[in-house]
Amino acid sequence: MCGIIGYVGHRPCEEILVTGLEHLEYRGYDSAGLAILIPDGVEKVRAVGNLAKLREALGTERRALGFEEQPDIDGNYTGIAHTRWATHGRVTEANAHPHSDESGEIQITMNGIVENHADLRSELEAEGRRFSSDTDAEVIAHLIARHFDGDLTEAVMAAYAELRGHYSFVAMHARTPGLLAGARKETPLIVGLGDGENYIASAIPAFMAHTREVLTVDNGEIVTLTPDGVSITDEHGSPVGRGPETVTWDEEAAEKGGFDTFMLKEIHEQPEAIAETILDRLPHDDGVDLSDMGLSDDYLLNVKRIVIVACGTSYHAGLIGRYAIERWARIPVEMDIASEYRYRNPVVGPDDLVIGITQSGETADTLAAMRLGRDGGATVLAVTNIMGSQATRDADAVLYTRAGLEIGVAATKTYVAQVAAMYLLALRLAELRKKLSIERIRVLVAGLRDIPDKMEHTIDAVSEEVEKLAKRHADDSFFLYLGRHIGLPVCLEGALKLKEVSYIPTDAYAAGEMKHGPIALLDESTPVICVATDSPILDKMLSNVEEVKARGAMTIAIGTIGSDRVTRVADETILIPKTDWLLQPILAILPLQLLAYHVARFKGLNVDQPRNLAKTVTVE
Ligand code: G6P
Repeated sequence: MCGIIGYVGHRPCEEILVTGLEHLEYRGYDSAGLAILIPDGVEKVRAVGNLAKLREALGTERRALGFEEQPDIDGNYTGIAHTRWATHGRVTEANAHPHSDESGEIQITMNGIVENHADLRSELEAEGRRFSSDTDAEVIAHLIARHFDGDLTEAVMAAYAELRGHYSFVAMHARTPGLLAGARKETPLIVGLGDGENYIASAIPAFMAHTREVLTVDNGEIVTLTPDGVSITDEHGSPVGRGPETVTWDEEAAEKGGFDTFMLKEIHEQPEAIAETILDRLPHDDGVDLSDMGLSDDYLLNVKRIVIVACGTSYHAGLIGRYAIERWARIPVEMDIASEYRYRNPVVGPDDLVIGITQSGETADTLAAMRLGRDGGATVLAVTNIMGSQATRDADAVLYTRAGLEIGVAATKTYVAQVAAMYLLALRLAELRKKLSIERIRVLVAGLRDIPDKMEHTIDAVSEEVEKLAKRHADDSFFLYLGRHIGLPVCLEGALKLKEVSYIPTDAYAAGEMKHGPIALLDESTPVICVATDSPILDKMLSNVEEVKARGAMTIAIGTIGSDRVTRVADETILIPKTDWLLQPILAILPLQLLAYHVARFKGLNVDQPRNLAKTVTVE
């Protein structure tokens, strides 16, 4: 986790670094810090809390140092900065980055985990080096110090050779101004190319305001930046020839676009995310074009089994994918949480297609589960939103969701885009294997094409009603979510959203299992959200709603327009437009996202940055 940015160039860089961090805050935000080279050493400021706290601390520091303008060194400025999501060591100023060797001349920022940090630390301490934090990252500064002999890049390369784990880091040295050196092992590191200045960061938005020319640092590579150039080598120093790419994202996308929060903006962007993800892949009425995915028809025709691995919200998208693939294409699907899958010695082989669903493409557990599939001889497909992410490099094929940049930590638009991508894949498999009639395929293609409009309509139609509902229930202490079949993943995701952003305990259960436990929780004060959209087992679901009512609990149902039975049975009903029943999850989640959002807002919480969570989990 964590976000890194580094700058070297002709402009004072404090503001460049802090605003860069503001675009990375979604990666972690429990503390932050920066270090800038000044003529007589290093100016370093760190603060516990979000970036507003860092700005405050910088103001105080500036006054203490007695200079208004940041001093240059021969016309150049060099600095690194970091926003942290704690892994090793508590959230304290001493554990905030940048970290240094004891002379303070070497400063580093790191994202990820150094697995052999304890051994290295003992070794370095035995040499007499003194540590000032509890972090794993600090060993990097001491290792560089151990190897530094005037050439920072060489010292970084030597340090890299001794580190195990998954991480990227950037270093600078007070005696080599105008120079940054870094290394990447699995967690992302991207260079931004400017004019007389260069940037390096964990993600492109950190420097997107200054340049759109980017150079990706790959695994096992060492990078050196000066104001006038960037060089990348492999870990042994052999040059890597890689040209820059131009980023075409809209800068506006990184801003809130008129909404109070990124989460609300991103909820409203969902119809567009779906349209982008599906429309050009549905070029005609009779099927799906997934040629951009990179798996041949012949291969897809012969897949024997599919294994889906994912974490968090992406896991919920996978559950829906499983229903669609099994129902439409009749291929057996195994589905597991990546962190469980990777340690249960699963049976996986060359006949399997392993699908890793990960919006960031960087989730450590999902990457490890995908690798396990690859090592077992399976073909690996990544379903991801981020071009160039690690998942795309590790996989044989990639199915991109095209949700655009998502800043809110609680996933919304990337989730629905994943669900849509899984529908496309399921339909393509069904089409190739002739498991659905052409009429049925046409109905589903038309249904998918209509989804963006229906989402738009749903968001407009239910927003006010859901806001009122949220107001009435914002002080409740527990919510139960019940659903069956395709409604169950909707419940799991709705319950996760509410607990993530409002901190209210929730439970999501298969409604048929209610009698085996959760029913004991029910009393008059319990709101029970029942996903009761049209399906072949709606009757069964409605019986469960009756059972909940019989215990005096308050039932709030998500139903399909025209389904009077739901309206009659539930205490309150929120209706979504009719679509094919297997496609309903993509609409049914909308009121539940809005409910989570408004409950959290009524409680005065920061929905974009829920406590303890991070958008990209690059540690296991
Ligand atoms: C974190 C995020 C979630 C996300 C999960 C998996 O927990 O806060 O929103 O669903 O990681 O992330 P991925 O990038 O693999 O989809």
